Amino acid sequence: MKLGLNIDHIATLREARKINEPDPLEAVFIAKNVGVDQITIHLREDRRHIHDDDLKAIIRASILPINVECACDESIIEFLCAQKPYKITLVPEKREEITTEGGLDLSYPSLKEIIKEFHKHQIQTAVFIDPQEENIAIAKQLGVNGIELHTGEYANLHLMLYSNLSRHKNTIKTLPTNRDTLRTQLANSLQKIQTSAELAERLELEVAAGHGLNYQNVRAIYEIGPITELNIGQSIIARAVFVGLGEAIREMYRSF
Ligand code: PXP
Repeated sequence: MKLGLNIDHIATLREARKINEPDPLEAVFIAKNVGVDQITIHLREDRRHIHDDDLKAIIRASILPINVECACDESIIEFLCAQKPYKITLVPEKREEITTEGGLDLSYPSLKEIIKEFHKHQIQTAVFIDPQEENIAIAKQLGVNGIELHTGEYANLHLMLYSNLSRHKNTIKTLPTNRDTLRTQLANSLQKIQTSAELAERLELEVAAGHGLNYQNVRAIYEIGPITELNIGQSIIARAVFVGLGEAIREMYRSF
């Protein structure tokens, strides 16, 4: 299983003070030392965490493959074609969202051309999609190398069932609090991820997964055979505040 460490939140901490620390580049070296396979960063339209200069410095260091998440934005696409990260994962983006909500709308008009353009620049491609079978077939037709399955719904249900979130101020209001209903929804959500991953494998797409994965919920996703890459950020960086980044990553490997 490849682990892609998402380091956006290191930049988020820096931007809380708008100074130069902590530097996301430093995380790349620590991650490499403890065996991380890939660095994932999201270059958002509003550059609220990762900046163009972070991306350039991280690619220039080139000690790990870089997976850049981005929206279908013309100027970002042009910039990324010049920077040539290892992989680009197309994600939806709304300015007002806290984090990526929902998978990419695969009916976006110029998606196929955008993917072709990245391939012309020798960049691997993936689309971040909701785990539904119809999305997998469309992704294949679009010509991407792989997909990343959105595990956010599964993760939210898991949090509501097995953490204290249902009693916390930040409770997820859109989800039920009835535990039996939550249990059924969680099982269905996991099943959708499994079925989608199996179909993608049959169609010879590389299968990654991510969003909301943490030390408690990662094992069930890890065990889905066709999934070969997990992109994880928030939980590892949150844990790193208390135990340091290297140890937080090691703990994640021990949770697989
Ligand atoms: N994969 C994708 C496509 C994402 O948008 C994100 C969030 O930036 C992640 C993985 C990582 O999610 P988390 O920070 O919740 O682990």
